[in-house]
Amino acid sequence: MEATASNLVELIRPFQGKVGATIPVLQAIQTNIGYLPPESFDLIEQEIGIPASKAYGVATFYAQFRMEPVGKHVIKLCDGTACHVKGSETIATAIRDHLGLAADEVTTPDMVFTLDEVACIGCCSLAPVLMIGEMTYGNLNVEKTREIIDEYRAKEVL
Ligand code: FES
Repeated sequence: MEATASNLVELIRPFQGKVGATIPVLQAIQTNIGYLPPESFDLIEQEIGIPASKAYGVATFYAQFRMEPVGKHVIKLCDGTACHVKGSETIATAIRDHLGLAADEVTTPDMVFTLDEVACIGCCSLAPVLMIGEMTYGNLNVEKTREIIDEYRAKEVL
């Protein structure tokens, strides 16, 4: 869904009058838009009365919320203990190199990939592990990681 004001209002309005709506409304926006556009906070205040400063404070407190647009494919690379020990840093470097990401970038300029380094994703026996969407890829090495990215990239040019 596009981040237009009317789409945001459509997502926010169902939370009118609901108690404890701050996190659920932020989740609803992020699930549908992919991140929290800056105008979300004023619209939340306007539509359901939660002060923009409160919603913003909650959004910046929890790591689950994103304030920037993300690529179509979010590569969740695990950097939990087991994955770290088994070389997740090498995999992160391989991903960055393969995507051409600068040190301060997480999303490719064409908005196809975002690299997101996350805590344990619960399949430590497969370390090092990454997820793209619902798919989990384990026992990664540099070559396998490049192949996975190439598969997703190939789907984009078909
Ligand atoms: S530490 Fe990576 S899946 Fe658990």
